[in-house]
Amino acid sequence: MLVKIKRENSFVDFKVDNIEKRTTILEVLEYIKNYLDSSLSYRAQCRSSICGTCGVKVNGKTVLACKTKALDLAQNDELTIEPLDNMPVIKDLVVDHEEFLSKLKKAKSWFVPKENFEKVYPEELKTFEKETDCILCGICYSVCPAFQNDKNFGGPINFVKIFRFWKDKNDALQEERILIAKENNITSCVHCKYCTFSCPKEIPVESDIMQIEFFGKQKGIIQSQDSFGFGFNFGF
Ligand code: FES
Repeated sequence: MLVKIKRENSFVDFKVDNIEKRTTILEVLEYIKNYLDSSLSYRAQCRSSICGTCGVKVNGKTVLACKTKALDLAQNDELTIEPLDNMPVIKDLVVDHEEFLSKLKKAKSWFVPKENFEKVYPEELKTFEKETDCILCGICYSVCPAFQNDKNFGGPINFVKIFRFWKDKNDALQEERILIAKENNITSCVHCKYCTFSCPKEIPVESDIMQIEFFGKQKGIIQSQDSFGFGFNFGF
Protein backbone atom coordinates (compact mmCIF):
# COMPACT_ATOMS: atom_id res chain seq x y z
CA MET A 1 0.00 0.00 0.00
CA LEU A 2 1.15 3.54 -0.73
CA VAL A 3 0.98 5.76 2.35
CA LYS A 4 1.31 9.49 1.69
CA ILE A 5 2.03 11.55 4.80
CA LYS A 6 1.82 15.32 4.92
CA ARG A 7 5.08 16.73 6.24
CA GLU A 8 5.36 20.50 6.22
CA ASN A 9 3.90 21.62 2.90
CA SER A 10 4.31 18.47 0.85
CA PHE A 11 3.48 14.78 0.93
CA VAL A 12 6.10 12.09 1.50
CA ASP A 13 5.42 8.61 0.12
CA PHE A 14 6.04 5.37 1.99
CA LYS A 15 5.48 1.84 0.77
CA VAL A 16 3.95 -0.39 3.46
CA ASP A 17 3.24 -3.96 2.40
CA ASN A 18 2.30 -5.86 5.51
CA ILE A 19 -1.15 -4.34 6.13
CA GLU A 20 -3.71 -6.86 7.36
CA LYS A 21 -7.42 -6.57 8.02
CA ARG A 22 -6.84 -5.76 11.70
CA THR A 23 -4.00 -3.24 11.12
CA THR A 24 -4.82 0.22 12.47
CA ILE A 25 -3.69 3.58 11.11
CA LEU A 26 -1.58 3.92 14.27
CA GLU A 27 0.17 0.62 13.51
CA VAL A 28 0.89 1.86 9.98
CA LEU A 29 2.48 5.00 11.47
CA GLU A 30 4.45 2.92 13.97
CA TYR A 31 5.73 0.68 11.18
CA ILE A 32 6.89 3.70 9.17
CA LYS A 33 8.59 5.22 12.20
CA ASN A 34 10.25 1.96 13.30
CA TYR A 35 11.37 0.66 9.92
CA LEU A 36 11.29 3.40 7.29
CA ASP A 37 11.81 6.86 8.80
CA SER A 38 12.49 7.39 12.49
CA SER A 39 12.05 11.16 12.13
CA LEU A 40 8.28 10.86 11.54
CA SER A 41 6.28 12.60 14.30
CA TYR A 42 2.77 11.75 15.46
CA ARG A 43 1.02 11.54 18.83
CA ALA A 44 -0.38 8.46 20.57
CA GLN A 45 -0.48 7.13 24.10
CA CYS A 46 -3.22 4.74 25.16
CA ARG A 47 -3.82 2.87 21.85
CA SER A 48 -7.39 2.30 23.00
CA SER A 49 -9.49 5.42 22.16
CA ILE A 50 -9.16 6.90 25.63
CA CYS A 51 -6.40 9.53 25.71
CA GLY A 52 -7.61 11.43 22.63
CA THR A 53 -4.13 12.25 21.35
CA CYS A 54 -3.99 10.36 18.04
CA GLY A 55 -6.48 12.33 15.90
CA VAL A 56 -5.45 12.60 12.22
CA LYS A 57 -7.09 13.08 8.84
CA VAL A 58 -7.01 9.99 6.64
CA ASN A 59 -8.19 10.24 3.04
CA GLY A 60 -10.08 13.35 4.12
CA LYS A 61 -11.82 11.73 7.10
CA THR A 62 -10.94 12.76 10.66
CA VAL A 63 -10.35 9.73 12.88
CA LEU A 64 -8.54 8.39 15.90
CA ALA A 65 -5.56 6.55 14.44
CA CYS A 66 -5.66 3.84 17.11
CA LYS A 67 -9.33 3.06 16.53
CA THR A 68 -9.39 3.02 12.74
CA LYS A 69 -8.46 0.12 10.49
CA ALA A 70 -6.25 1.07 7.55
CA LEU A 71 -8.14 -1.07 5.04
CA ASP A 72 -11.44 0.56 6.00
CA LEU A 73 -10.24 3.91 4.69
CA ALA A 74 -7.83 2.93 1.92
CA GLN A 75 -8.78 4.01 -1.60
CA ASN A 76 -7.06 2.36 -4.58
CA ASP A 77 -4.54 0.85 -2.16
CA GLU A 78 -3.57 4.33 -0.96
CA LEU A 79 -3.78 6.19 2.34
CA THR A 80 -3.21 9.93 2.62
CA ILE A 81 -2.57 10.97 6.22
CA GLU A 82 -2.63 14.62 7.30
CA PRO A 83 -2.68 16.55 10.58
CA LEU A 84 -5.98 17.85 11.96
CA ASP A 85 -7.20 21.24 10.69
CA ASN A 86 -7.94 24.39 12.70
CA MET A 87 -4.83 23.90 14.85
CA PRO A 88 -1.23 24.95 14.15
CA VAL A 89 1.02 22.09 13.08
CA ILE A 90 4.02 21.58 15.34
CA LYS A 91 5.62 18.85 13.22
CA ASP A 92 4.29 16.33 10.69
CA LEU A 93 1.05 15.00 12.24
CA VAL A 94 1.47 16.67 15.64
CA VAL A 95 -0.79 19.69 16.14
CA ASP A 96 -0.84 22.27 18.90
CA HIS A 97 -3.82 21.71 21.24
CA GLU A 98 -3.07 24.84 23.24
CA GLU A 99 -5.79 27.05 21.73
CA PHE A 100 -8.69 24.69 22.22
CA LEU A 101 -7.48 23.70 25.69
CA SER A 102 -7.28 27.33 26.79
CA LYS A 103 -10.76 27.92 25.35
CA LEU A 104 -11.94 24.96 27.42
CA LYS A 105 -10.59 26.64 30.53
CA LYS A 106 -12.51 29.82 29.70
CA ALA A 107 -15.67 27.73 29.39
CA LYS A 108 -15.26 26.38 32.94
CA SER A 109 -15.32 22.87 31.56
CA TRP A 110 -15.10 21.15 34.90
CA PHE A 111 -17.58 19.95 37.49
CA VAL A 112 -18.42 22.46 40.26
CA PRO A 113 -20.02 20.36 43.01
CA LYS A 114 -23.14 21.51 44.87
CA GLU A 115 -22.94 21.51 48.63
CA ASN A 116 -25.59 18.85 49.12
CA PHE A 117 -25.34 16.04 46.64
CA GLU A 118 -28.53 14.45 45.38
CA LYS A 119 -28.88 10.91 44.11
CA VAL A 120 -28.79 10.77 40.29
CA TYR A 121 -31.25 8.25 38.84
CA PRO A 122 -30.37 6.21 35.73
CA GLU A 123 -32.90 8.06 33.56
CA GLU A 124 -31.36 11.40 34.62
CA LEU A 125 -27.86 10.10 33.96
CA LYS A 126 -28.91 9.10 30.45
CA THR A 127 -29.52 12.76 29.52
CA PHE A 128 -25.78 13.54 29.72
CA GLU A 129 -24.14 10.11 29.77
CA LYS A 130 -22.94 10.29 26.16
CA GLU A 131 -21.26 13.64 26.79
CA THR A 132 -19.22 12.14 29.65
CA ASP A 133 -17.46 10.02 26.98
CA CYS A 134 -15.69 13.08 25.51
CA ILE A 135 -11.93 12.41 25.44
CA LEU A 136 -10.88 15.95 24.36
CA CYS A 137 -9.44 14.64 21.09
CA GLY A 138 -10.20 17.94 19.35
CA ILE A 139 -11.62 16.27 16.23
CA CYS A 140 -14.88 18.26 16.46
CA TYR A 141 -12.81 21.42 16.83
CA SER A 142 -10.77 20.53 13.75
CA VAL A 143 -13.77 20.11 11.44
CA CYS A 144 -15.72 23.16 12.62
CA PRO A 145 -16.22 25.84 9.92
CA ALA A 146 -17.62 28.44 12.37
CA PHE A 147 -14.11 29.72 13.15
CA GLN A 148 -13.92 31.16 9.63
CA ASN A 149 -16.48 33.79 10.68
CA ASP A 150 -15.76 34.06 14.37
CA LYS A 151 -12.30 33.39 15.79
CA ASN A 152 -13.72 33.76 19.31
CA PHE A 153 -16.24 30.94 18.85
CA GLY A 154 -15.71 28.53 21.75
CA GLY A 155 -15.82 25.48 19.51
CA PRO A 156 -18.04 22.38 19.64
CA ILE A 157 -16.00 20.76 22.39
CA ASN A 158 -16.81 23.62 24.81
CA PHE A 159 -20.51 23.16 24.32
CA VAL A 160 -20.31 19.41 24.90
CA LYS A 161 -18.73 20.17 28.27
CA ILE A 162 -21.23 22.94 29.05
CA PHE A 163 -24.10 20.59 28.17
CA ARG A 164 -22.69 17.77 30.29
CA PHE A 165 -22.47 19.89 33.46
CA TRP A 166 -25.64 21.91 32.82
CA LYS A 167 -27.63 18.65 32.72
CA ASP A 168 -26.08 17.36 35.94
CA LYS A 169 -28.24 18.41 38.88
CA ASN A 170 -25.25 18.15 41.23
CA ASP A 171 -23.38 20.87 39.35
CA ALA A 172 -23.52 24.14 41.27
CA LEU A 173 -23.41 26.49 38.25
CA GLN A 174 -26.60 25.26 36.53
CA GLU A 175 -28.02 28.11 34.42
CA GLU A 176 -24.78 30.07 34.71
CA ARG A 177 -23.56 27.45 32.22
CA ILE A 178 -25.93 28.95 29.63
CA LEU A 179 -24.44 32.38 30.19
CA ILE A 180 -21.00 30.83 29.69
CA ALA A 181 -22.27 29.36 26.41
CA LYS A 182 -23.37 32.83 25.32
CA GLU A 183 -19.96 34.25 26.27
CA ASN A 184 -18.44 31.48 24.13
CA ASN A 185 -20.45 32.80 21.16
CA ILE A 186 -22.66 29.73 20.87
CA THR A 187 -24.80 31.48 18.26
CA SER A 188 -21.85 31.51 15.85
CA CYS A 189 -22.47 27.77 15.35
CA VAL A 190 -23.48 27.21 11.72
CA HIS A 191 -25.26 23.90 12.50
CA CYS A 192 -23.44 21.99 9.76
CA LYS A 193 -23.28 18.90 12.02
CA TYR A 194 -19.71 18.11 10.96
CA CYS A 195 -18.88 17.83 14.69
CA THR A 196 -21.58 15.23 15.24
CA PHE A 197 -20.61 13.20 12.17
CA SER A 198 -16.92 13.17 13.05
CA CYS A 199 -17.01 12.58 16.82
CA PRO A 200 -15.28 9.20 17.46
CA LYS A 201 -17.43 8.78 20.57
CA GLU A 202 -20.68 9.46 18.71
CA ILE A 203 -21.64 12.38 20.92
CA PRO A 204 -24.57 14.33 19.41
CA VAL A 205 -22.58 17.57 19.57
CA GLU A 206 -24.74 19.75 17.33
CA SER A 207 -27.91 18.61 19.05
CA ASP A 208 -26.36 19.63 22.41
CA ILE A 209 -25.61 23.06 20.96
CA MET A 210 -29.20 23.36 19.68
CA GLN A 211 -30.59 22.45 23.10
CA ILE A 212 -28.41 24.95 24.97
CA GLU A 213 -29.24 27.67 22.43
CA PHE A 214 -32.97 26.93 22.52
CA PHE A 215 -33.08 26.97 26.32
CA GLY A 216 -30.97 30.14 26.47
CA LYS A 217 -33.29 31.93 24.05
CA GLN A 218 -36.38 30.80 25.94
CA LYS A 219 -34.91 32.17 29.17
CA GLY A 220 -33.78 35.41 27.49
CA ILE A 221 -30.14 34.65 28.29
CA ILE A 222 -29.23 34.30 24.61
CA GLN A 223 -30.68 36.69 22.02
CA SER A 224 -31.42 35.77 18.41
CA GLN A 225 -29.55 38.83 17.16
CA ASP A 226 -26.37 37.34 18.69
CA SER A 227 -26.50 34.83 15.87
CA PHE A 228 -24.02 34.53 13.02
CA GLY A 229 -24.90 30.96 12.39
CA PHE A 230 -28.34 30.47 10.99
CA GLY A 231 -27.61 32.28 7.72
CA PHE A 232 -25.60 29.31 6.50
CA ASN A 233 -27.06 26.34 4.73
CA PHE A 234 -24.92 23.24 4.38
CA GLY A 235 -27.70 21.17 2.91
CA PHE A 236 -28.28 18.83 5.87
S1 FES B 1 -3.78 6.57 21.28
FE1 FES B 1 -5.16 7.28 22.82
S2 FES B 1 -6.95 7.73 21.71
FE2 FES B 1 -5.64 6.89 20.23
